[in-house]
Amino acid sequence: MANVVVIGTQWGDEGKGKVVDLLTEKADCVVRFQGGNNAGHTLVVEGTQYIFHLIPSGILHPGKVCMIGNGVVLDPGVLLQEMDRLNGLGRSVTPDNLVISRYTHIIMPYHRALDLARENAKGHGKIGTTGRGIGPCYEDKVCRSGIRLHDLFDEQALRSKLERNLKEKNFLLEHFFGASPLEVDAVAEEYLAYGRRLAPFADNVSERLQQSVRENRHIHFEGAQGTHLDIDHGTYPYVTSSNTVAGNACCGSGIGPTRIHAVLGVVKAYTTRVGGGPFPTELEDETGERIRAVGGEFGSTTGRPRRCGWLDMVVVNSAVRLNGLAGLIITKLDVLTGIPKLKICVSYRCGTRSLDMVPPELEALEKCEPVCREFDGWEEDLRGIRRYQDLPLNTRRYLEAVEELSGVPIGIVSVGPAREETILLKDPFQ
Ligand code: GDP
Ligand code: IMO
Ligand code: MG
Repeated sequence: MANVVVIGTQWGDEGKGKVVDLLTEKADCVVRFQGGNNAGHTLVVEGTQYIFHLIPSGILHPGKVCMIGNGVVLDPGVLLQEMDRLNGLGRSVTPDNLVISRYTHIIMPYHRALDLARENAKGHGKIGTTGRGIGPCYEDKVCRSGIRLHDLFDEQALRSKLERNLKEKNFLLEHFFGASPLEVDAVAEEYLAYGRRLAPFADNVSERLQQSVRENRHIHFEGAQGTHLDIDHGTYPYVTSSNTVAGNACCGSGIGPTRIHAVLGVVKAYTTRVGGGPFPTELEDETGERIRAVGGEFGSTTGRPRRCGWLDMVVVNSAVRLNGLAGLIITKLDVLTGIPKLKICVSYRCGTRSLDMVPPELEALEKCEPVCREFDGWEEDLRGIRRYQDLPLNTRRYLEAVEELSGVPIGIVSVGPAREETILLKDPFQ
């Protein structure tokens, strides 16, 4: 039995969705443990593209159980749309293959309104959030005024919480941000209807996971966002509002750390970032534009162009430390084909200091200059390659440098968006 956590090592969009879909064949359960519909995980299966924001990326495999843990913030309208779309495609989502924690916090309309109003008010220094209400929902969780899934099944409880919350939120929306207030009745009606539809899916995920452990099932934890968007360890304040590191797989689902056997980090063969914040290896030139165009680097949630840059091993190595990575999964290697000279950042120069880890202070990171090693590129199309030894020599040199610089073995190399466009070196469940 092996329970494995898969997380992003950079600033998100590393290709976690594809990897989780691929590995689900070997798993019995797939669990989301943090984040919400700020995530956009894209899979390409049998020629069809699917984008999941909330449903775990294992859902396309029949006979597997997908779970949404207590650490997720759930927008029920978005989840139901996602379920309806899948049902329409003949991929049915039922209580047999989707379980949602009763203790998952619910994203309410005032969370979305506050997220947008706050971002608009910021002007310069915007975080560039996805506007999905993620931050405000986590704020209410921490300040103990959140509404959880089970509250949607109890009209009286929901109304009394809504009345209390809306008094404060409407004051802020109207008098601080100049936005429109919300009405208790309309919100209550909408969310009670969501509750009726979601009730059959609600359960205690922690207990379900304990049962899976007893039955020696393989559990797979699907991270959202990336290590450097972590609220504690990321490039604060340009981060999301949850802990994205592997340790949160336990808190966000209700399983003990002794039950986790391995943590795998997904590394895009270059770096991208959406939204504001420092990005030492960013390429604001033709090469950056080429990577964006070839890699299709446009947000799957908001459609925004992603900022692109060279692979940054300072970023990856900080993720190795923060997540205790046992293996790396390299994605989008095919996108680098045809670039004559490639660079990998191996350290930062910060004034007179040389750094090999991302400095936690924004002010220090903003002053960092990347120190890069140059590699010869390759011309060959990689998408048809299925064996490591068939990769061009220069491609293997690039990968070997990643292993050498991180000290972590590469288990999987992805050479295209489709499930089968993959080179498997080591089965993470073995
Ligand atoms: P996630 O948020 O980490 O799941 O990543 P996204 O789905 O937001 O972004 C990754 C994008 O790259 C998606 O459009 C995937 O279909 C695509 N993708 C994943 N792996 C590969 C790969 O190896 N090569 C190419 N060309 N595209 C890939
Ligand atoms: P996946 O799971 C990339 C970024 C936003 C913004 C910051 C805060 O697809 O990798 P938020 O709405 O979370 O308050 O926004 O975090 N962000 C992501 N960037 N991939 C994601 O998810 C992201 N989720 C949030 O762009 O900079
Ligand atoms: Mg994404």
